[in-house]
Amino acid sequence: MEDDRLAPLLSQEQIASIVEDLADQISRDYGQRELVLVCVLKGAFMFLSDLIRHLRVPVQIDFVRLASYGPSLRTSGRVEITKDIEISIEGKDVLIVEDIIDTGVTLKYLYRRLKARRPRSLKSVVLLDKPSRRKVRFQPDYVGFTIEDHFVVGYGLDFNEDYRNLPGIYVLK
Ligand code: IMP
Ligand code: MG
Repeated sequence: MEDDRLAPLLSQEQIASIVEDLADQISRDYGQRELVLVCVLKGAFMFLSDLIRHLRVPVQIDFVRLASYGPSLRTSGRVEITKDIEISIEGKDVLIVEDIIDTGVTLKYLYRRLKARRPRSLKSVVLLDKPSRRKVRFQPDYVGFTIEDHFVVGYGLDFNEDYRNLPGIYVLK
């Protein structure tokens, strides 16, 4: 990618191996129990599509869209669901699929909202974790890769809706 604002962080090959490892762990943990994957739009769409191709567990998928308000780049702390999931998760094993956890506000909010619908179990998987930025306590059950406090784009992640299509992940300088 020829863009001097972008510094390579993870190649397509590195991402593929991280995603396969996550799929292995998840497949081992759930066995043949059917899993409902709740993908957080838009950022996690590419991660979800690669992850499900490597899972050896029967899955259903659904999508949720969240909006957070406040200064750009950073989450303010106010979150709401702007597009809800459409399948009932009551009594089901549910796994939230998210691109990145930063302050933790988004995942913590979504976790609480889904938990109230009485799934049999509720866990979360994130491709990337920025633990140094955490503002609220939330620990995803599966983490692909831990990064420093950088703003990253590509592989579904955007800056003002750009760069989502890049197959690798880059630090935006
Ligand atoms: P949190 O609520 O602060 O944990 O933020 C999570 C959301 O902020 C993610 O779902 C992303 O949409 C967005 N986000 C946080 N860090 C980055 C980043 O480095 N690049 C792109 N989006 C990010
Ligand atoms: Mg997101």
